Amino acid sequence: AAASGLNLTNIQGDILIVDVPSFKAQLKSGIAPLITSTFQLLPNTTDPADLFVNIAFSSSGLSKLGIANPDLGDNNLFQKGQFNGATNLGDLTSNWLPQFAGTSIHGVFLIASDTLDGVSATLSQVQSILGSSISESYRLQGQARPGDQQGHEHFGFMDGISNPAVNGFNTPHPGQALVNPGVILFGESGDPKSRPGSTGWAKDGSFLVFRQLAQRVPEFNKFLLDHAPSEANMTLEENAELLGARMIGRWKSGAPVAMSPLFDNLVIATNAQQNNNFDFSAPSDSSLCPVSSHIRKTNPRADFSKGNFPNHIIRAGIPYGPEVTDAENASNTSSTDPSLDRGLAFVAYQSDIDTGFETLQSDWANDPSFRRGYQYANNAVLQGADPIIGPNGVSRSPAGLDPSNLSGSITIMEDFVVSKGGEYFFSPPISAIQTTLSS
Ligand code: HEM
Repeated sequence: AAASGLNLTNIQGDILIVDVPSFKAQLKSGIAPLITSTFQLLPNTTDPADLFVNIAFSSSGLSKLGIANPDLGDNNLFQKGQFNGATNLGDLTSNWLPQFAGTSIHGVFLIASDTLDGVSATLSQVQSILGSSISESYRLQGQARPGDQQGHEHFGFMDGISNPAVNGFNTPHPGQALVNPGVILFGESGDPKSRPGSTGWAKDGSFLVFRQLAQRVPEFNKFLLDHAPSEANMTLEENAELLGARMIGRWKSGAPVAMSPLFDNLVIATNAQQNNNFDFSAPSDSSLCPVSSHIRKTNPRADFSKGNFPNHIIRAGIPYGPEVTDAENASNTSSTDPSLDRGLAFVAYQSDIDTGFETLQSDWANDPSFRRGYQYANNAVLQGADPIIGPNGVSRSPAGLDPSNLSGSITIMEDFVVSKGGEYFFSPPISAIQTTLSS
């Protein structure tokens, strides 16, 4: 489930603040009481909200509200905005939606609930409170996948299994990372940086990274069949499933390949005491789980450090867009009709964009040499970029995907996940919404 405990539907609306005094007045009296606190973002909270409303501001939005020069001490990434760092993330800015290109978005509302009615009613309420003090520049409607695919992303894999537990807020399941609260919340113990605002108005806020990541599902499925390994006693379809599982590092059910290397295992998948209980250390080569797999790239566990490193994020995204149509399936090609665009509305919280999302995307997922020369056996092999979220527009060669050829790699010439852009936002504590940002 999403960090809030809700993941069925959500709406995200990007806004421009057009009338600052009126916006501030409504923010204080009308919006502040609706906002879910950043503490409730933490996973496995004992007090999950049944409706979740968050407002977060970009750097240009904070400036508009009077925070001059909003340097929140994250290596300038927040201040520059996501668009200006897009190339470093491996994006092709030609794929970016025009609404995200530049730094014009001031803020974002995120409204999530278990029901579409709940989301719609809250959206109307927010709109009537803020009236013409804002204008909406973009809206993305999230939607959980139907039936037995609920909780699964569009490639078919269970998502939202692994998030860190936060010290003082929840107890980790076996194998789950335990991070200090400052890894997620600004200015709490373990915040990797000390910076402006972290002992004052911004304390207990969190950076919200938003990305609209389109997924090319028919192309992904075709790739799996075309490049399926040839394990003995397995059908082509089973070999294709195996390749997909090794690219992610988990089976579609969520069972980790590190614990069940050749077949899916529903017992492990659904048991929270088991489904994170692995650390890639025995053996540390790619025989069980490829070093290049998505979950090993983005959370290298014991490859990186036995201790709790600060490069953790809390993921709270949900899928958007409709199911694949029969015509798309038959042609192995995603439609270019924008109403059939589908993917992941990626949302991640962390106290530091540089230590969190940017490290995971740029320094780990995108870098073919990440984890070479550390603790796994085959030091000589370049492990390649993340086969799922590696850079767009360049071929990637993740190694070790074929269990019979661990030092070989498969070249992927196309993008299965296409970044359509996004923005960096700061999700302030409620106290700041009531005071600093609204007066
Ligand atoms: C885990 C899919 C984008 C970071 C996962 C899992 C799946 C998945 C299926 C396993 C379920 C789980 O452990 O919760 C995808 C897809 C993406 C995407 C389809 C794009 C459309 C990203 C991005 C990042 C990221 C952009 C960060 C840069 C992570 C992390 C984990 C994860 C940190 C947990 C790894 C662990 O702790 O074991 N993803 N993901 N993902 N993903 Fe992604």
